[in-house]
Amino acid sequence: MAAKYAIRKFDAVIVGAGGAGLRAAIQLSEAGLKTAVISKVFPTRSHTVAAQGGVAASLGNSEEDHWHWHMYDTIKGSDWLGDQDAIEFMCRKANEVVVELEHYGMPFDRTDAGKIYQRPFGGHMSNFGEKPVRRSCAAADRTGHAMLHAMYQRNVKANTQFFVEWQALDLIRDAEGEVLGVTAMDMETGEIVVFHAKATIFATGGAGRIFHSSTNAFINTGDGLGMAARAGIPLEDMEFWQFHPTGVAGAGVLITEGVRGEGGILRNSQGERFMERYAPNAKDLASRDVVSRAMVTEINEGRGCGPNKDFVLLDITHLPPETIMKRLPGIHEIAVQFAGVDALKEPIPVVPTAHYQMGGIPTNYHGQVVMPQGNSQNAVVPGFYAAGECACASVHGANRLGTNSLLDLLVFGKSAGESAVEELKKSPKAHKELHQESIDKTLERLARLDEQKGGASVHDTRLTLQRTMQNHCGVFRFADKLKEGVQKILDVQKDVQRTEIKDKSKVFNTARIEALELDNLIEVAVATMVSAEARKESRGAHVRDDAPDTAANPNGRDDKNWLKHTLWFKEGNRLDYKSVKLTPLTVESIALKTRAY
Ligand code: FUM
Repeated sequence: MAAKYAIRKFDAVIVGAGGAGLRAAIQLSEAGLKTAVISKVFPTRSHTVAAQGGVAASLGNSEEDHWHWHMYDTIKGSDWLGDQDAIEFMCRKANEVVVELEHYGMPFDRTDAGKIYQRPFGGHMSNFGEKPVRRSCAAADRTGHAMLHAMYQRNVKANTQFFVEWQALDLIRDAEGEVLGVTAMDMETGEIVVFHAKATIFATGGAGRIFHSSTNAFINTGDGLGMAARAGIPLEDMEFWQFHPTGVAGAGVLITEGVRGEGGILRNSQGERFMERYAPNAKDLASRDVVSRAMVTEINEGRGCGPNKDFVLLDITHLPPETIMKRLPGIHEIAVQFAGVDALKEPIPVVPTAHYQMGGIPTNYHGQVVMPQGNSQNAVVPGFYAAGECACASVHGANRLGTNSLLDLLVFGKSAGESAVEELKKSPKAHKELHQESIDKTLERLARLDEQKGGASVHDTRLTLQRTMQNHCGVFRFADKLKEGVQKILDVQKDVQRTEIKDKSKVFNTARIEALELDNLIEVAVATMVSAEARKESRGAHVRDDAPDTAANPNGRDDKNWLKHTLWFKEGNRLDYKSVKLTPLTVESIALKTRAY
């Protein structure tokens, strides 16, 4: 093969250096495998850094807790759409991965007895839903930040090779469907390199930037999902997006649920603690979809605050200032900087803000990517693994519980790494031959962007995409708006195909990178809108006006017709469905019932 670019061989290439990527890399590098990690940003600036409130594990350091209770809460939180084998696996592994992290040097807060400090979080309850339990293991309100530093150091020690400020372009998949690595571009110089690998792990995080108002970093553009979709791999359950109840009004910056875990209260314009009406048992610590809908209902019914009555208040003025400054120092800072309030004295204006995608690249709980093939709904894609927010194991189903995201990335980052190590050690083999056509295919987008003249602007097209998603696919969904949304987003897709890089000379290839990211955002946006329009029920975070709460369908859920996962395929913009795994690994299935908090 005539090389127009360098080809670098690794045992494994990991795309993404957030929590899942770093955890997978530890597994591979410590097993002595040559491992590359490609990242758009310096690893400790990955979006995991923004995770504040903690990581879930039933350590029981402050009160009784069990993994069975955690499993029950996660299945209930998922509105029964989560795969119960994967949920059991995750909840049983939680204590192990958190203690490992402690041994990597993670600076958790401590109880007086010196154990890892744990706080309550929404939807995490004791004794199968009885009352909130302290399950979130926290390092003040900077848990993700501390986690990234601990795992990055561990990787440095293990000789993981980092490629920082590199943009992955596309997945290399050969004619037999095996994944052989990725092509990537050095953002500074524009140099292209083929990363030829025996195992490829995607840990590219979420795509919250498909929405106009988001807690997500600007880097969260769904790159892994776009690359997977273009390589013929379906995206699972993309209609399910979490809106975090407490983004700073007008800014979208996250205010951790840990604030409510420490005793914070949501109030409407009348000063009422309105969650008592919506969730009499869990109140402000009900699951996120329930709290976000309650907030939007308060605002829609005229009980919002401020001159436009368009936010509610998060009140911590009754908490001791020492608790706030010890447990929530970052929140105090964010409130000053983004809301202009001193949270010790005044409540913080908040609104629900797009935060997390429950769906993603379909995997099993070993972190292997799976897709329908022949008679199997879940055939493994050879050489390909995914973990963290870009993947769908599926442990979050229709709604994720707070702190289960950091747990997901530890458990499935580790298991994706372990599966790859096992595969590579089981049958040590040379790199499979790369064919020119499979490389050329990964470079088609770059060629299109460099040649396109007179097309739409990347900035304007992205803005239209984000506004379309925000207006047509938000906290509450309407049948007619969804239908219209599908048409609008397909129009945006046509514009994306015609975007022109206006300023090719910009330093750091900024314009080129933004255009490449837009290619990924549009795949996620189309998958989301099309999947949401098609699911004619309400479940978890997907609530439609034409599927209301009735006696026959509690919560608007329709288990008879819709207890199934959606699969969206880019080719033909087509949908398929597969069954939910209601059989856990060892315990009894958690039977379907109405979800109330
Ligand atoms: O509220 C938070 O601290 C966010 C945590 C999460 O999304 O799990």
